[in-house]
Amino acid sequence: MADERGQPGAVITGAAGDLGGALAESFLADGFSVYGADIAEIAPQNGLTPVRLDVTDRTAVFALAERAAAETALAVWINGAGIVATGRISEAAPEVWDRVIAVNLTGSFHGCAAALTVMAAAGRGGRIVNIGSLSGQLGGLGVHPAYGASKAGVHVLTKSYALEGGKHGVACNAVAPGVLEGSMAGEFRPDQLENIARASPMRRLGRMDEAVEAVRFLADPVRASYLNGVILPVNGGAYMPG
Ligand SMILES: NC(=O)c1ccc[n+]([C@@H]2O[C@H](COP(=O)([O-])OP(=O)(O)OC[C@H]3O[C@@H](n4cnc5c(N)ncnc54)[C@H](O)[C@@H]3O)[C@@H](O)[C@H]2O)c1
Repeated sequence: MADERGQPGAVITGAAGDLGGALAESFLADGFSVYGADIAEIAPQNGLTPVRLDVTDRTAVFALAERAAAETALAVWINGAGIVATGRISEAAPEVWDRVIAVNLTGSFHGCAAALTVMAAAGRGGRIVNIGSLSGQLGGLGVHPAYGASKAGVHVLTKSYALEGGKHGVACNAVAPGVLEGSMAGEFRPDQLENIARASPMRRLGRMDEAVEAVRFLADPVRASYLNGVILPVNGGAYMPG
């Protein structure tokens, strides 16, 4: 029997969600052994190992990294777990601030740290992809200010891990999607979604598969071999940083 660690591995947090689930399917289709981590339950399937954890639990995140690195040739780590909260900025609650920052930013920090630790130790390089957001570049009305702040933090976190990871052949990049069709978009009122769609030159929301393609590109060591520390906008041109 072949060495189990010969099989490429991918860890995806938030894998019970729309984007994480679509990413898991995509990596499974390409023969990856996928660890789907989420605070919510995920059904196991061939090639997919569900791991129930809270990304704010650093010990659990590191245990997942150790396991994935022991059982596979861990090549990809995607920090996809995230939460959003909508509402008036003038009414933004501090408890919500704490939780959004904890899940989106601190959770991504633990993921980057765990992935880099095991990938550097294995010496085969690797790809970390964080999920930022257009909100992390523009902020936004109708969304708790913690959301944009957490995602701006994720963007800069990405650059710090790109600097450190580069020494070990571990690239760290992020995608910054605008609002995508899916359950998270359901947090907005229909009139808000219409305004968001109008704000894009392409006059529509993004699709989940369009975000998946961008993540897969950044996770590919051949196609994106010299990309490191990039924040890739997936927003139809709603914001075009130079
Ligand atoms: N959907 C969008 O419009 C959009 C746009 C820009 C960025 N994003 C980002 O993309 C990522 C995925 O979003 P999505 O659209 O798939 O949303 P989603 O709500 O479908 O998925 C998010 C997943 O994260 C999980 N999660 C939440 N808290 C967690 C925790 N503490 N520990 C572990 N898992 C936890 C949820 O259970 C859920 O399965 C998020 O980081 C989100 O902020 C989404």
